[in-house]
Amino acid sequence: MAYNVVIVDNDDAKISDISTIFRRTPEYTVVSTYHEVKSALGQSSMFKPDLFLINVDNSGNLDALPAFEDLFPDAIVLGTLKQWDSDIAFQVIRSGGLGCLIKPFGLDELKNSIKLFSRGIKGVKPRLFSFFSAKGRSGKTTLIANLALSIAQQTGDLVAIIDADLQFNDMAIFFDIEPTITIVEATRDVRFLSPTKLNSYFLPVTDKIQLLCGPKKLEYSELIDMESLLHVVRMAQTLFHYVLIDLPPGFSQFSTGMCELADDTFMCGMLNTGFEVEHMKRSMSLLNIWEHYGKKVEIVFSRVSDDLKPNIEKRLGHKITAVMPNEFLMVSAANSGKIRDGLDRDSLLARKIRELAKKIIDDG
Ligand SMILES: Nc1ncnc2c1ncn2[C@@H]1O[C@H](COP(=O)(O)OP(=O)(O)OP(=O)(O)O)[C@@H](O)[C@H]1O
Ligand SMILES: [Mg+2]
Repeated sequence: MAYNVVIVDNDDAKISDISTIFRRTPEYTVVSTYHEVKSALGQSSMFKPDLFLINVDNSGNLDALPAFEDLFPDAIVLGTLKQWDSDIAFQVIRSGGLGCLIKPFGLDELKNSIKLFSRGIKGVKPRLFSFFSAKGRSGKTTLIANLALSIAQQTGDLVAIIDADLQFNDMAIFFDIEPTITIVEATRDVRFLSPTKLNSYFLPVTDKIQLLCGPKKLEYSELIDMESLLHVVRMAQTLFHYVLIDLPPGFSQFSTGMCELADDTFMCGMLNTGFEVEHMKRSMSLLNIWEHYGKKVEIVFSRVSDDLKPNIEKRLGHKITAVMPNEFLMVSAANSGKIRDGLDRDSLLARKIRELAKKIIDDG
């Protein structure tokens, strides 16, 4: 398609830089440029614009974006930024814009961004879920992988999994993915990345699910700092409808910090010896604090049948959102690289996962 482009920027040098990228391509024509967003709104309709590139470092421009959506509902609006700012990027998306580009950008970057951002995130509130467990082997990774498959299947939306359980690389093994690029590189590079570039660090699992793999080697986990990971997570939220984070087991600044960032935290436990209920109990003080501050916390226990649920709820003094039945053979077969095919649809575990995925979708 051919695009009539309108550029809004108070800086003449920036207008000139951006115009230059379109100079040699007949597909794009810069039909008009403005310093002021008001003039763009008042005057550009005669140029039949298809694409607006608006400097959103300026808060007045940012506030005017809904007016563009009203006046030019068929045009694409992209924000342009000097440096990445997730809060601004979310506001652009919520205001009907497609996403943000970091200046300077080239034509390929612009084209890729339009393609990527057009996957349907526009106007949607992205949702972030963290999966926490007091101890290891809580069924967390199995739960996340299957929930991602079910959410994507029920909604057709885009789901990202971030494997931040940094000591291992389980999620890549579950999905039989070669971790060519991982969370180590993403956190190292994030300050220089635009969302389009970050997207290529998330490897495709299915056409709707992408995975940011855990470190290839245990010692690489030391290279990841919390602040950079927060950056990665927030930028990922401008690319996917759902972001699910697998966290290392145990209480640490890292895991609790990620839970505080999330919209919902899933506290995961698996019944093996019975002690696990006591371990979960130890997490309850943290859970109560989070709930006090308005965070949503859900408890999920694996290898628990429905009839045991009331007893565990009583011991915990808290409602359990879901229990997953013991299906060891099916789960271990699925976890050895075959999980992408999903669980046997008719099994009780698959049904329970579908129900929990539906609850997550409906709560949004
Ligand atoms: N519902 C279930 N029924 C039976 N076995 C299960 C179930 N869910 C998970 N498992 C098995 O329990 C083990 C641990 O599961 P999983 O790896 O998902 O837990 P995790 O909390 O991610 O563990 P880790 O701390 O090692 O990362 C795996 O062998 C898995 O196959
Ligand atoms: Mg795990």
